[in-house]
Amino acid sequence: MKITVPILLALLLLASCAAPLAEQKEPVRLTVIGVSQVGAESDWRVANTESMRSTFTEEAGYRLLFEDARQKQDNQISAIRRFIQQQVDCIVLMPLCESGWDSVLQEAKAAGIPVILVDRSVAVEDDSLYAAHIGSDFCWEGQQAVAWLDGAFQDVEGPVNILHIQGTPGSSAQLGRSAALEQAVEDHENWTLLAQLDGDFTQAKTYEVTCQWLDGQSEKPQLHIVYCENDNSAFGAIQALEERGYTCGGEGVRVVSFDATRQGLTHCLKGKISLDVECDPLMGPLVEEVVQILEAGGTPEKHYYTQEQLFTPEDLTWKLIEQRIY
Ligand code: AHR
Repeated sequence: MKITVPILLALLLLASCAAPLAEQKEPVRLTVIGVSQVGAESDWRVANTESMRSTFTEEAGYRLLFEDARQKQDNQISAIRRFIQQQVDCIVLMPLCESGWDSVLQEAKAAGIPVILVDRSVAVEDDSLYAAHIGSDFCWEGQQAVAWLDGAFQDVEGPVNILHIQGTPGSSAQLGRSAALEQAVEDHENWTLLAQLDGDFTQAKTYEVTCQWLDGQSEKPQLHIVYCENDNSAFGAIQALEERGYTCGGEGVRVVSFDATRQGLTHCLKGKISLDVECDPLMGPLVEEVVQILEAGGTPEKHYYTQEQLFTPEDLTWKLIEQRIY
């Protein structure tokens, strides 16, 4: 066919009409998720953040607004208020501590934005202030640790001296893990808490407070147990102890830890950590399930607890550690 000028004009006109039609496709509506994370204090926390980031991607239909509170509750409260102003579809909150959330959660509720608590929980009078909580049972974790210690020291009649390195004060992880140890000390006449130090779940702070405490004693204390409330604290404590001539593991000091990160399990396989209680940070997929239930107008369960296990050096192999995601 010979293309004449009128035909060419008609074709051009058709093409110019067709283009906008193709572009008029409905844009994909992304679900906007505001995440208020505690900080980056530990390897566990970094893995938890990564789990959220790799779950709530644009390809999966989400826009993630991520705020790092740098270990300050005030920063978390400000972040939640910004999410409310931005009218996000859902707020995911990893609360630093348990108390002090009522007002800001009421504001989110009044704005009709559901809040999912991840990892730690909150202490509020009205539990309708959050849609669901997904995390570990920290009391269970602590009880598992002291049950293991109970077995390990059952034949010891003499004194059992304990140094306790606590996590961030007032956080669910600290409260649950500390409560179990404090109860066990009450239940065992020969168990003594020599000191409780705030390690804030970090390696650096734990190293510092442990060095200070050890160096401040008039005589080198006899230590049987160092109960650290996470792996990074255990690393800091082990360093401080070894620098001062203590042996960690075997018949030396029994270091107990929580998280079971790859690095924690490596210390455990080497015998420096005698028991590592798992705390699973990979909660992104479960959080997404709850978001989807909420989006569909459903009611999720109030609490979802992650399944966890205990590790001692005998349970571990290098292969198992290499396969670990975090
Ligand atoms: O709340 C979970 C705890 O917080 C983890 O044990 C610790 O590593 C983290 O920082």
